[in-house]
Amino acid sequence: MRIQGGTTFIFAVGLLAFLGTRSALAAGDAERGARAFRQCIACHSIEPGLHMTGPSLASVLGRKAGSIEGFTRYSDALRAAQLTWTEATLDQWLRDPAALVPGNTMTFPGIPDAQARQDIVAYLKAVPQGTAAAQPRPQLPNLKQASAESRVTRMRHCKDTYEVVTADGKAHRIWEFNLRLKSDTSPSGPRPNEPVIVGAGMRGDRASVVFSNPAEISSFIRDGC
Ligand code: HEC
Repeated sequence: MRIQGGTTFIFAVGLLAFLGTRSALAAGDAERGARAFRQCIACHSIEPGLHMTGPSLASVLGRKAGSIEGFTRYSDALRAAQLTWTEATLDQWLRDPAALVPGNTMTFPGIPDAQARQDIVAYLKAVPQGTAAAQPRPQLPNLKQASAESRVTRMRHCKDTYEVVTADGKAHRIWEFNLRLKSDTSPSGPRPNEPVIVGAGMRGDRASVVFSNPAEISSFIRDGC
């Protein structure tokens, strides 16, 4: 009798522990999710309309995949996927995005930990309700406020070298293969004909010059030595 009772007791405790884990897992904790979301902030913001490498995730639950307004870089695969983002589909996506939508362009390996996925989904649910913890704002520099040492006044291409002269009068000579020419047409991009050099710091072997639009790249750079 005593042994039987003990077994029943152990079984009951085991069952309760099991149910306890299950319901904790199903719940998802938005606050923990906000911390886990740091894995995403290199590519996603949660501010409406602020798209980065990936679309803003301000209100993703309940939407059709690949349909957030203003994001112009969806893969054909995600747009064609007949998917609506629910807790279940988001969980599958976060576990293994390539398995759910083969050919999508989110370069992210997936999160094996089911609890962490549930937490992130709880967080994404809490964001539009205004109950989620704040995230640090994405650090997008305002290139209209670039300092004299970054503001480019002249630029020429001579043999295999770019000479970039900045508003503080300094000339930087950079091997053409190490200089990236970029454009930033967003409100934080540079003013027309005032490109900005970034990354030409201490070591200075690699840098980018950011222009206000792509057409300016060839008109601004003089050719010749
Ligand atoms: C390296 C950049 C990168 C990281 C890191 C990343 N994503 Fe993405 N994400 C993307 C890109 C790019 C897309 C668009 C994919 C496509 O169109 O195929 C995307 C798409 C999505 C979508 C679908 C949105 C829609 O409108 O259909 C969701 C949801 C999503 N990501 C959530 C996350 C979450 C949550 C994390 C962190 C756990 C994360 N992503 C990490 C780049 C990233």
